[in-house]
Amino acid sequence: MVRGVISGKRILITGGAGFIGSHLVDSLINGNEIVVLDDLSSGNIHYVSEHLKKKNFRFIKGSILDKKMVEKAAKNANIIIHEAAVVGVKKYVDNPLGVILTNTFGTHNVVEAALKNHVELFLLASTSEVYGKNINVPLSENADRVLGPTNIFRWCYSTTKALDEHMLLAYNYQKGLPVTIVRYFNAYGPRQESSDYGAVIPIFIKRILSNSPPLVHGDGKQTRSFTYITDIINGTLLTLENEKSVGEIFNIGNDEEVTINQLADTILELMDSSKKIKAKHVPYSEFYGESYEDILRRVPDITKAKKILGYKPKVTLREGLKKTIDWYKSTLHAQNM
Ligand SMILES: NC(=O)c1ccc[n+]([C@@H]2O[C@H](COP(=O)([O-])OP(=O)(O)OC[C@H]3O[C@@H](n4cnc5c(N)ncnc54)[C@H](O)[C@@H]3O)[C@@H](O)[C@H]2O)c1
Repeated sequence: MVRGVISGKRILITGGAGFIGSHLVDSLINGNEIVVLDDLSSGNIHYVSEHLKKKNFRFIKGSILDKKMVEKAAKNANIIIHEAAVVGVKKYVDNPLGVILTNTFGTHNVVEAALKNHVELFLLASTSEVYGKNINVPLSENADRVLGPTNIFRWCYSTTKALDEHMLLAYNYQKGLPVTIVRYFNAYGPRQESSDYGAVIPIFIKRILSNSPPLVHGDGKQTRSFTYITDIINGTLLTLENEKSVGEIFNIGNDEEVTINQLADTILELMDSSKKIKAKHVPYSEFYGESYEDILRRVPDITKAKKILGYKPKVTLREGLKKTIDWYKSTLHAQNM
């Protein structure tokens, strides 16, 4: 059954000034009332600045760890989209406590506020990281979670997001809260964080723009499936719009698999830099210390999202990279890098 295009709703988007959250704001602002709760720890107020003067938009600067603030933001919400989280591999190893507290206690505050307000739907932004190092790709939603030991901090993000999923499914089962979960696979595109704490694509682009080689961790043979932001947003909207999504988990991703070596070479080529700059391989220990484990392959099985939601990623990696490179070129040049 189709809920239909979302309109006339009051929607709380936590993390709505972040990369994915701010694109969701842009897609949902017409015809709805949007409240964003964001502490701006990695988000950017400029990404929602065009909406600040609109009557149907409200920005609240605050943390999901602040229960009172969450209750205020969630008041009378019909839908909650929970995007706020501490995200980025380097943060998992440098600030595991921040990851653990925000992604579990923060999520619990938002879920409790959803229950109090009898929301029609609570959507959790989860991640392909929950599959850990399971290399039996493509990974369907029921694939096993394969993780390393707890003294490797890298796994704490995966664990907190999996706990969030368990929490939501339990709230659905025991308290009747209508929940749905999307597992995003390596999103990329304009507005993604490009600092050392950000993601691989903006970091590579930024380095090449400053005539430095992209630094490939390990041998670069590890693979990922990168999903352009419009396909991430489309998958999220389709999940919100379909009543069959309640109680379900969906992989939202693009199943085009590339090695990180291929990714670096493609970005160099698209930036006309492949003759003068070559990717440089560096050991993981230089970035993440001695105890680090990487994920060797990651490809989504999107059969379920295709069948139930009619989801189909449309943007190829090359197309998405071109658009992303153009955006970083203009933005980073405007900021003088
Ligand atoms: N980008 C990806 O590839 C990817 C992949 C899988 C899952 N996800 C999930 O999607 C969601 C959005 O990720 P993103 O890539 O847009 O990252 P992002 O860092 O750009 O967005 C997260 C937002 O949450 C905010 N935030 C962090 N801690 C907060 C707190 N305590 N209180 C309030 N706001 C807080 C940040 O300021 C930021 O605006 C996250 O839940 C992430 O786990 C992202």
